Amino acid sequence: MEKKLTMEKLVNLCKNRGFVFQGSEIYGGFANTWDFGPVGVELKNNIKRAWWKKFVQEDPSCYGVDAAILMNPRVWEASGHVQSFGDPKMDCKNCKTRHRADTIIENYSKGTISAEGMSNEEMEKYIEEHDIKCPNCGKRAWTPIRKFNPMFTTSRNMVGDEKDVVYLRPETCQGEYINFLNVQRTMRAKVPFAIAQIGKSFRNEITPGNFLFRTVEFEQMELQMFCHEKDSMSFYNAYKERALKFVESLGLKAENLRYHDHDKLAHYAKAACDIQYNFPIGWQELNGVHHRGTWDLSRHSEFSGKNMDYLDPFTNERFTPNVIEYSIGADRLMLAIMCEAYEEEVLENGETRVVMHFLPAIAPYKVAILPLQKNLGDMAKEVYNKLSKSFMCDYDEAGSIGKRYRRQDEIGTPFCVTVDFDTLEDDTVTIRDRDTMKQIRLKIDELSDYIQKAIEF
Ligand code: GAP
Repeated sequence: MEKKLTMEKLVNLCKNRGFVFQGSEIYGGFANTWDFGPVGVELKNNIKRAWWKKFVQEDPSCYGVDAAILMNPRVWEASGHVQSFGDPKMDCKNCKTRHRADTIIENYSKGTISAEGMSNEEMEKYIEEHDIKCPNCGKRAWTPIRKFNPMFTTSRNMVGDEKDVVYLRPETCQGEYINFLNVQRTMRAKVPFAIAQIGKSFRNEITPGNFLFRTVEFEQMELQMFCHEKDSMSFYNAYKERALKFVESLGLKAENLRYHDHDKLAHYAKAACDIQYNFPIGWQELNGVHHRGTWDLSRHSEFSGKNMDYLDPFTNERFTPNVIEYSIGADRLMLAIMCEAYEEEVLENGETRVVMHFLPAIAPYKVAILPLQKNLGDMAKEVYNKLSKSFMCDYDEAGSIGKRYRRQDEIGTPFCVTVDFDTLEDDTVTIRDRDTMKQIRLKIDELSDYIQKAIEF
């Protein structure tokens, strides 16, 4: 019978199988930072590549960029982050822990109340009326709610000893807005068109945690579609749909996904929706799709002094494009994919195997080469050298073949190729399927095409 996955089990598997290690582990760690190991970095890169393929490579109206993390601080004034970006935080005076007021309310109401858009006063009133206590110590001794700006700052030497504050970007999308004119001019792009990028973002979160779910350093995959207002709602709906299809195509089951339309919106926004995933910690945001109106380009026009309007060459109409944003965290998506892929399968002989059923296209290693015995190593290495030109391959000759299969199941390798004594005679090997555990015999020359077909995306 399938056992329920807990975050603890997943963290242990990740640690023991080279997916993810605690950040700065030998120094006792550094809270809420994680290092991706040899297996995890492959998985995350494959997820990012799959996103790029679907949203940039296969879409002639989308252009990629890779903007600097450190930007002119005026960018963050224009975006509103310096003045108003921030989570509503309150401290427990009794146990001195810090909490997000909106999360406290949402957890208390088991998700039936959305604190999105509630003012600080409304949240304080709700907490008082419902006598909501500190989840850490059980007392109700809250400080007033205050905005906490989660932007990390650093400084840059200017003249002599003078230093200027510089921000580590809390989202990647500003790099897309400020390059709107550059991309439009150099690519001769016509509105509607999109700009996408993948990169690191940093947030000094009040309540990070739950492994990769909320960290202080993470990667975002963001896309901004610039369009005329009259087309904006249809692009908004199209990206909602594409976003859902994409995560389903990576193996997330429809029953574990749902839309969550926002009731309360930022003053400039026309619509906003998350896709939520049913994580072991409950239904939580996986990605967002936001209709941001003309806010971003208007603000950057105002603060930079550069006019960011678009002149339509067909209609001669001059207008500020609307923005539809689609944003998803690569680490959070990787977490969802690992949760979905995990299975403890009870076999016919009563033993249990842990298997990660990754879609082959994003599996960290595509194939493992296993000599049945060590003295078949030379032949097995030849097979490895051949296949590793096209695929990420693992090579393992240590331990019994059964144990080696189990290890590959745990890191989700879709195929295991075993080199045995017949291989020396007829150039054939067995290839074992991770999910069915069935084996077939193939010529070494046929392996490449066989694997290629299975990993197409
Ligand atoms: N530019 C819009 C934006 O950044 P967001 O809802 O704050 O919107 C978008 O973030 C996505 O980035 C989220 O849906 C989530 O997948 C990911 N994300 C946000 N904060 C994160 C964090 N602290 N740790 C991991 N992923 C995070």
